[in-house]
Amino acid sequence: MADTAFAPRVFSGIKPSGGLTLGNYLGAIKRWVEMQEDPTYETIYCVVDMHAVTVWQDPADLRRATREVAASMIASGIDPERSILFNQARVPAHTELGWLFSCVARVGWMNRMTQFKDKAGKNAEKVSLGLYAYPALMAADILLYHATHVPVGEDQKQHVELTRDIAAKFNHDYGVDFFPITEPVTEGPAMRVMNLRDGSKKMSKSGESDMERINMLDDADTIAKKFKKAKTDPEPLSSDLAGLAGRPEARNLVDIYAGLADISAEAVMAEYGGSGWGVFKPALADLAVAKLAPVSDEMRRLLDAPEELDAIMARGAERADEIAQPILARTYDIMGFVR
Ligand code: TYM
Repeated sequence: MADTAFAPRVFSGIKPSGGLTLGNYLGAIKRWVEMQEDPTYETIYCVVDMHAVTVWQDPADLRRATREVAASMIASGIDPERSILFNQARVPAHTELGWLFSCVARVGWMNRMTQFKDKAGKNAEKVSLGLYAYPALMAADILLYHATHVPVGEDQKQHVELTRDIAAKFNHDYGVDFFPITEPVTEGPAMRVMNLRDGSKKMSKSGESDMERINMLDDADTIAKKFKKAKTDPEPLSSDLAGLAGRPEARNLVDIYAGLADISAEAVMAEYGGSGWGVFKPALADLAVAKLAPVSDEMRRLLDAPEELDAIMARGAERADEIAQPILARTYDIMGFVR
């Protein structure tokens, strides 16, 4: 089948479930801004509120978190004129295509999703059906815009691979070349930011202790305290990166530094190799505060005017819907619906 040329288009999203972490910033938002600056791409960024409710959300918390995620994107440099920025609930086409894709995706594929297994744990019978079906909705988010590139942290890569499988199966089953085979974009020094208290777990907004993560709205003292108390081993930093093998907490702090400074982990080691934690941790805290304070100040300013944020998301949703409608209509038509 001849490949249809798809214009380079970026789609990505963040769930508004709890506060944002440094992991979301380094693994996602920071690169979203870089892709916005690259004239190759058209960029669409979404607050994926429909995904948030796969686990219980207090309505007031969901409202606040939706605006907080939008504010964090804008404060980090997403320009709602150049990028399309909106929240998912305003574009019902996502859930329509999500249903169609839940009829394309196979149960066996869903059973392989490691994030579902982690989140459901031993309680798989008790979690929502939505949590299980979630990757089909994520595929819809992406393919509703014929997005070709999806910048995500490592933890979402498997879901983007499933999106490729859904696109390929749809194209094959209907004998079309309609959906692109999307590329996950995961290169970068801090695509998997780990928990500050346990280097084997990822930093997450839903982790038990606040000390294990840096929140985007943490103040300077809190950031300094969290890095000071971050778990490490007694050894100083090794002289090179290879020497950090088997030392996940140490490696994590080096990767965070690299992500914040926009340099490679090797370059961090060239500067700090052999240093003790008493030198490295304060330098890391200073860097984090220098990078995050302007973002969190701007976030607070934006959150003081929620109507402005809502208007930005409403306008973004109109633009998103204009792209989505013809793609959804063509999907219905390919499948044989009479509408
Ligand atoms: P979510 O909301 O859990 O995370 C949003 C983005 O932040 C990245 N991220 C991290 N990156 C590095 N280290 C970490 N510790 C870390 N924690 C989070 C995630 O990889 C992600 O890129 N299913 C998605 C949301 C989604 C989506 C989409 C993404 C829904 N539809 C379509 C892309 C395209 C999620 O739960 O991300």
